[in-house]
Order: sequence, then C-alpha cells, then structure tokens
Amino acid sequence: MTSEIASTTAAQLAEKIANKTAQVGIIGLGYVGLPLAVEFAKAGFTVTGIDLVESKVERINAGDSYIQDIPAGEVQALVDAGKLRATTDFSVVAGLDTINICVPTPLRKTKDPDMSFIVSACQEIAKFVHPGMLAILESTTYPGTTDELVLPMLSSTGLEVGRDFFLCFSPERVDPGNAKFQTRNIPKVVGGVTPACTQLGAQFYAQALEHVVPVSSTQVAEMVKLLENTFRMINIGLVNELAIMCERMSINIWEVIDAAATKPFGFMPFYPGPGLGGHCIPIDPFYLSWKSKQAGIEARFIELAGYINGQMPHFVVEKVQNALNDRGKAVKGSHIHILGVAYKRDIDDVRESPALDIIHLLQRRGATVTYSDPFVPSIRMDQEIMLATDEAEAVAKADATVIVTDHAGTDYKSLVGRSPLIVDTRNALRGVSAPNVIRL
Ligand SMILES: NC(=O)c1ccc[n+]([C@@H]2O[C@H](COP(=O)([O-])OP(=O)(O)OC[C@H]3O[C@@H](n4cnc5c(N)ncnc54)[C@H](O)[C@@H]3O)[C@@H](O)[C@H]2O)c1
Repeated sequence: MTSEIASTTAAQLAEKIANKTAQVGIIGLGYVGLPLAVEFAKAGFTVTGIDLVESKVERINAGDSYIQDIPAGEVQALVDAGKLRATTDFSVVAGLDTINICVPTPLRKTKDPDMSFIVSACQEIAKFVHPGMLAILESTTYPGTTDELVLPMLSSTGLEVGRDFFLCFSPERVDPGNAKFQTRNIPKVVGGVTPACTQLGAQFYAQALEHVVPVSSTQVAEMVKLLENTFRMINIGLVNELAIMCERMSINIWEVIDAAATKPFGFMPFYPGPGLGGHCIPIDPFYLSWKSKQAGIEARFIELAGYINGQMPHFVVEKVQNALNDRGKAVKGSHIHILGVAYKRDIDDVRESPALDIIHLLQRRGATVTYSDPFVPSIRMDQEIMLATDEAEAVAKADATVIVTDHAGTDYKSLVGRSPLIVDTRNALRGVSAPNVIRL
C-alpha cells in the first residue's frame, strides 16, 4: 500500500502503533472484545477494556476469565504484567490512542436493528475523542453505520476525520469454540472512512493478528460480514427445507448430504438442525434486509430463509409429538428431556438457542420438560430459572429424549439402550439404526 499518511497527527499515531506504545482500548468485553483485548496485550500493547458490567471488570482485574476460549491463566499473566486492565469509567478514553468498539447489536422485537449499544458507546467516546485517536467499530451492523451514524457523533467535536482522528469498520469473525481458527489467525478485513484511516487500521491489526485484508471503504467492510453470515443463514435455510421435504418422501437427508459432499468441487455441505442460534446468524441478515428495504429492495432470500429456519423448532416438536403418538402417548403429560441447550456444540452460549423455543413449545403443549447440558448449568425461561438435571437419571425416566445440541464428550450411542425414544436433531447417532431412534 502506498502511504496515505499526510498529517503529522497520523504520522505520530503510526509511530506509536509501530513501536507498540499506543494505548489500546476495547469497548465491550464479551465473546468478541475480551479475546481481542487479550490478543493485543499478548502482542505487547497496554490494553484497557471498558465494560458497563462491574462484575466482568472485577473478574478481569482479578486475573479471571468468563469467556470459555480464554483461559484464566492467560488473563492473570497479562494483568500481572500490567498489560491488561479493565474499567467501567469511560474517561480513560482521553488517554487512549486506539479504540475498538465491540458492543452488542441485537434486533428489536420488530426485527429492526437495535443500535442503542453502539449509540451509547459512541456518545461516551465523543466526550473524550481527541487528536491522534483511531476508532474502529467491530460490532456487526448494516452497511453505512460507520459513516452515517458513528462519524457524525465523533466529528461533532470539530475534529476532522482522516486528519485529526481516524475511523474504520472491521468485522469481527470470531467463532467461539473453534480450536483451529481464533482471533489471531482469522484474517481481519478493515475499511476506513479515508485512505489514511484504512492504512492506520490495517497497520494496527497487523501488529497483533496474522493476516489483514484492507478494503476500500467502511461500507465494503460492513457488507463483507453480512455476506458471510447471510450465506450461512440462507444455505442452512435451504437444507432445512430439504430436510422437511425428505421427511415427507422418507429419504434420509443426512445420507443425501454426505453423498453430495463427495463432489470435489462446487458443493459445500450445510446441515439441517433444530433452528438457528447465537448472536450472529439468526440476527445479522436482518440488519441487511432492514437497510436494503430503505434502498427499495426486498431481501427475499433472507426473509424466506428466516421463515424456514424459524419453523424448525415447531418441526422438531411435531416430530416428538408424532413419535409419541405412534407409541400410544401424547406430549401432554409426558416427560421430555432435552439433551443440550447451547446454540451449538461445545460452547456455553444460549443466546437465541432453538432449545429455548423447543422447551417453551413442549411446555405449552403440557409436557414436563427437563434438560441437561455440561456447559450450561441454568437457563432463564421467561421469568423462571430452570436448572440442569442429572442426564442419566432424566434420560432413564423421560418418555422421550431430544438431542438438540450435540456436544462432544457425550456417549450418544449408549442412549439407545437408556431411553425409550430419542429424537435426534443433529445426527449425533450417525450410523445407528434402532426402532427408538427418530432423526430430523
Ligand atoms: N459472539 C460471536 O460469536 C460474534 C462473532 C462475530 C461478531 N460478533 C458481533 O460482535 C458484537 C459483540 O458481540 P458479543 O458476542 O461479543 O457480545 P457480548 O454480549 O458477549 O459482549 C458485549 C459486551 O459489551 C458490553 N457493553 C454493552 N454496551 C456497552 C457500552 N455502551 N459500553 C461498554 N460496554 C458495553 C456488554 O456488557 C458486554 O460485556 C456484536 O455486534 C456481534 O454481532 C459476535
């Protein structure tokens, strides 16, 4: 890249980044922010994390971790070395050179973007924005957010972007629970409001991460993330619809996918399941459809896949109901045990998990529902807290067990002899054929 750094302020910031004396700030210390903070601290920067939740701040300062992929020992070593600290006090922004914003971007009930977390974080930053500061938004959001929403807030101070302060968007692509690809070795896409912003953003990430991919604008960077997650959401929607078709035609969808996946080009396997979960795939595409509606384009693929994926918990409950009926029982009055409530394998996150919908639907039909999950000791159902039960005991007593999350480390095959009826939504019982096993 040719140098876009014209102002003295930019050159000074570039120097601080190069010699790792830049004071780094990370706003929002969750699944995205804490791993990022740890990565920059490990690279040699002094990092300050800012979060509104006092207990998270206290745990970090005490050398503890509440994020599964980050070992407490790693936090402890960085805190002891004076490389990492956390605070709830935004006034520290005045002394920071870089700021990464990693706050939540949920949907409102109407499926419209909830920008309140970004807005409130930026309002705080705007109070302390100063010459020589680089701010990077990492929260997944609709194309245009950085330029249309964040930039006006930060430049309301009279500072000029690209000359006095610098602003980028860089989508976070972390995949919790993925042992192979983590913050450090997932390529980092970054686009700035001006070429100098992009150059500084790319230089900054290159100091801590293995591979940086600069793009021409914040909008491109915002859209990259939405393409990735919409691609997943739509392909999962397609395969879920195929699963429903295959059930009608008595074809084993899992066998179909395995055979199709032997094609060495032009096919990528996606798998059906009980529905989408997590803070990304069920949500992000609706940020895009909201924005595209404003541009006069209906995002029909997104709406359709959203509908099909949203039907999957109902489809699972119908499967349970039909299987019980075939055995002379009804959902009402039956005990149904849910195996796994996290939204995907080997993680502790239940945000948007289809397990919660399935439990709710079964309870509404009069079932007694229990659950077990080695990663999730309790869940909140409306106003009530539901505690995990002992798996072996519950499976033995229940009229049916539904495998909703296929955590590794569970002996699924042994279920066949322990449960009168198993509804397997993940093909955890791959290769097992038994009269008491019903597959999605
Ligand atoms: N979780 C993932 O796998 C993942 C992956 C890629 C991208 N993302 C995106 O990254 C963003 C963050 O997601 P997450 O999963 O880390 O969320 P999270 O809820 O785990 O963490 C967000 C943190 O921000 C804090 N926070 C909220 N408002 C704040 C404010 N105004 N000031 C300071 N702190 C504030 C919260 O207390 C919380 O600790 C979202 O936009 C999400 O879509 C998430």
